[in-house]
Amino acid sequence: MKMRFVCVVVMGLVVVLGGLPFSSDAQLDPCFYKKSCPQVHSIVFNVVQKVAKTDPRMPASLLRLFFHDCFVQGCDASILLNNTATIVSEQQAFPNNNSIRGLNVVNDIKTAVENACPNVVSCADILALAAEVSSFLGGGPYLKFPLGRRDSLTANLTLANQNLPAPFFNLTQLKASFAAQGLNTTDLVTLSGAHTFGRGHCFFILGRLYNFSGTGKPDPTLDTTYLQQLRKICPQGGPNNLLNLDPTTPDTFDKNYYSNLKVKKGLFQSDQELFSTPGADTINIVNKFSSDQKAFFNSFATSMIKMGNIGVLTGNKGEIRKQCNFVNKKSVEVDTGSLASESEEGMVSSI
Ligand code: HEM
Ligand SMILES: *[C@@H]1O[C@H](CO)[C@@H](O)[C@H](O)[C@H]1NC(C)=O
Ligand SMILES: *[C@@H]1O[C@H](CO)[C@@H](O)[C@H](O)[C@H]1NC(C)=O
Ligand SMILES: *[C@@H]1O[C@H](CO)[C@@H](O)[C@H](O)[C@H]1NC(C)=O
Ligand SMILES: *[C@@H]1O[C@H](CO)[C@@H](O)[C@H](O)[C@H]1NC(C)=O
Ligand SMILES: *[C@@H]1O[C@H](CO)[C@@H](O)[C@H](O)[C@H]1NC(C)=O
Ligand SMILES: *[C@@H]1O[C@H](CO)[C@@H](O)[C@H](O)[C@H]1NC(C)=O
Repeated sequence: MKMRFVCVVVMGLVVVLGGLPFSSDAQLDPCFYKKSCPQVHSIVFNVVQKVAKTDPRMPASLLRLFFHDCFVQGCDASILLNNTATIVSEQQAFPNNNSIRGLNVVNDIKTAVENACPNVVSCADILALAAEVSSFLGGGPYLKFPLGRRDSLTANLTLANQNLPAPFFNLTQLKASFAAQGLNTTDLVTLSGAHTFGRGHCFFILGRLYNFSGTGKPDPTLDTTYLQQLRKICPQGGPNNLLNLDPTTPDTFDKNYYSNLKVKKGLFQSDQELFSTPGADTINIVNKFSSDQKAFFNSFATSMIKMGNIGVLTGNKGEIRKQCNFVNKKSVEVDTGSLASESEEGMVSSI
């Protein structure tokens, strides 16, 4: 399989970015590493491709990791920070604990990238590039992420629990969760399409299978044959087994997620809500994508780049971490005063 790493700038994008008035912050740029680390794309590609050969689920896991980073204080690699004396890791947040995967793969990528171009590529950009490669390896669209993100000095467990949507959410809650990140209804339906590959645990659907919203009955928006299949894998009081998010093509990035919703085979309530909420404005979008994979792929590329721009640190904000799980050790000269003056500056320039 081949992937082109040509650094092509989309004309429209340049016009839009260049048109922002009085933007003192540096902008992300697809060619950010063109001079400083031109091999970065192929390095990320090679590591992920190699892992995917023995672990076909890994592209899905890496794509999800990027989503879980971006929704929590922006795409700043905060999710990668481990517990230390000063950091409360996001990795034990309810949506992440025993669920996120790929942290070691990210570290392997970082090591390979540091060997080629030390101190240049951020962990936040590595997460974006890993997501880019993962979509491609799964058979999905080629995402051309703008780069130049920097890494956070903090993590926020509280925010991870607050901002990441739950599989028990109804459509109103899903829309609110995405709107809080500047993502609209089209983005919600589009990005949910990432559930076209990867796995989920029984834990998240037991309610749907046995006692939906306290009714004592299964979720009526679940196909009855599919219900029986799911109950076999997830017996009541049984082990917390893994399920394919897409029962038709479990490791392929395609439009089947949407055709599944149309036949009541969405795995999570949050999936099925997009099609089964009466009168919802999401139904037309599901219909469209279920019959037009190109439309889904184009929309996915757009929405992913939008998600990838959430709360990014650029310019001299944050840092380029040496090791993705830890913030760099501060030099003696740098104290908290410099942080304070930086945020003051930010406030002044935003007026
Ligand atoms: C719309 C709200 C969303 C909810 C409620 C949600 C929830 C979940 C849950 C509960 C799992 C299974 C976790 C587990 O059992 O360990 C999962 C897996 C996954 N999610 Fe989402 N998700 C949402 C949106 C997204 C988005 C926006 C993306 C990426 C763009 C995404 C990508 C994935 C992938 C690829 C997996 C499979 C991961 C793996 O196999 O390791 N999800 N999601
Ligand atoms: C960081 O924490 C994870 C568990 O969340 C652990 O698997 C990993 O070994 C830790 N990494 C380092 C470098 O200590
Ligand atoms: C995270 O998972 C571990 C291991 O299963 C468990 O011991 C711990 O209580 C969980 N933490 C949270 C905050 O749920
Ligand atoms: C985490 O985010 C919350 C909500 O924005 C904020 O109140 C809190 O101060 C943050 N905590 C840390 C450790 O940054
Ligand atoms: C969605 O869930 C919220 C919180 O549980 C609830 O207040 C709201 O009524 C629900 N909306 C719909 C349309 O069911
Ligand atoms: C279903 O859940 C409700 C509320 O949590 C509970 O009161 C009820 O006993 C449960 N029914 C069954 C059949 O487990
Ligand atoms: C939602 O965002 C997409 C880009 O992701 C944009 O094309 C679309 O016009 C927006 N829709 C609405 C209703 O604002």
